[in-house]
Amino acid sequence: MADDERKHMRAEVLRTRFAAGTVLDAAGTLVIRRMVAGDAPLLAAAFADMGKPLAQYAGYWRENVDGARVTIVAVDAGVVVGYANIIWNSGYPPFNRDGVPEINDMNTVTVRRQQGIGTRMIGAAEAIVRACGGMVIGIGVGITPDYGIAQRLYPKLGYVSDGMGVFDDPWGGATYATKRLA
Ligand SMILES: CC(C)(COP(=O)(O)OP(=O)(O)OC[C@H]1O[C@@H](n2cnc3c(N)ncnc32)[C@H](O)[C@@H]1OP(=O)(O)O)[C@@H](O)C(=O)NCCC(=O)NCCS
Repeated sequence: MADDERKHMRAEVLRTRFAAGTVLDAAGTLVIRRMVAGDAPLLAAAFADMGKPLAQYAGYWRENVDGARVTIVAVDAGVVVGYANIIWNSGYPPFNRDGVPEINDMNTVTVRRQQGIGTRMIGAAEAIVRACGGMVIGIGVGITPDYGIAQRLYPKLGYVSDGMGVFDDPWGGATYATKRLA
């Protein structure tokens, strides 16, 4: 499929099946859904301890509107507890070259980690990429202990290292892995 055709199909699938606010998964009081405009300040408040400014989440919303990004938000009983992003044009050169969509900037609030929320957000991201015709999805993880939960989780969910070693970034370097969806 040509690049333009793929982009057109993706835009159609996102518009018709995954519009803003679409519920992707639900279990008890936990809902995993696509971002809506009003989430930006809620995300900034929920993750204030990470020092991420409102402008970052407002930017995410703009990129959801223009099609560059899909932001997935986890909400428990009305409270934001996590988020993850799919970016279609990865900043990691091998993914960018091969057109591999990347799960990027994923976080669960500290007190709700290791309760299955991240696993559900990754499942939702995979479902969206698959529905958009993606055969492979990628993810990166920092190499420092700050990312320890993610370092353990991703291989268990089927993400296999791309074997390229450490990619230098401003946060101390990251490794990348992919999972086949088809
Ligand atoms: C990485 C991160 C997004 C994962 O989200 P999460 O909600 O903690 O993920 P999950 O709960 O689905 O899985 C994490 C672990 O909890 C375990 N778990 C899931 N449900 C559980 C439950 N009910 N009881 C006990 N353990 C559980 C998972 O099996 C996994 O365990 P493991 O250590 O054996 O691999 C989150 O931990 C986080 O924000 N970390 C800091 C920032 C970060 O590293 N972001 C990723 C950057 S790439």
